[in-house]
Amino acid sequence: MDGNGRWAIRQGKPRSAGHEAGSDALKRTIRAALGHGIRVLTVYAFSSENWSRPKSEVRQLLDLFIKALNREVRELAEHGVRLCFIGDRSAFSRTLREGMLQAERRTAGNTRLHLNVAVNYGGQSDVAAAARALATKVAEGRLRPEQIDREQLEAALSLGQQPAPDLFIRTGGERRLSNFLLWQLAYTELYFTGVLWPDFSEVHFDAALSDFARRERRFGGLGRVQNA
Ligand code: FPP
Repeated sequence: MDGNGRWAIRQGKPRSAGHEAGSDALKRTIRAALGHGIRVLTVYAFSSENWSRPKSEVRQLLDLFIKALNREVRELAEHGVRLCFIGDRSAFSRTLREGMLQAERRTAGNTRLHLNVAVNYGGQSDVAAAARALATKVAEGRLRPEQIDREQLEAALSLGQQPAPDLFIRTGGERRLSNFLLWQLAYTELYFTGVLWPDFSEVHFDAALSDFARRERRFGGLGRVQNA
């Protein structure tokens, strides 16, 4: 969800106004995902590198998360959304951690849309944590090193129980992954748009889905033409 800061600057507003507008764009996107019958949506709300921003901006962002949780969880629950947070929560305030846990508990039984929110998340740390978890099992004699394979490692990742994403959308014009779901994106279709996140609307989402529908997914195999 990139481009909040630039959107605000262009409007002569503080960066925090961009994040506020970004949370409206997220609501619109969740609504659009529900409308399209999408089953899993994972958003990058705060990367483990975002701590390097000015303290005031980090505080505003974390305050916004708390406010959004208080404000939106009931409606999300009513629409059948299951909320999950991935990333290292240990650095967050008790209030935020409690809010996240409550939201997860309250929506745990929902199945219409699984909404994963990545907070203080980094793909490399996720892989390292998975490796550590497997190493611990080996040290405790519950796993043999030769049993460690792709499936074992994948299952130990934060999204271990969920399918790999079909489509990755990055707004804001940059063309990089920025440490998001590194393992899971191996065969994901990548879509980059210059639209700043606060401007992202259902029209842009539909454009990304249409583009995705035209892609030929080969997963390392041969394409339709070569197979014929
Ligand atoms: C990147 O834009 C965006 C973020 C670091 C924050 C994302 C947060 C939201 C969209 C708020 C809503 C989220 C929840 C879970 C309520 P940027 O600040 O890097 O923009 P820039 O590249 O233009 O500076």
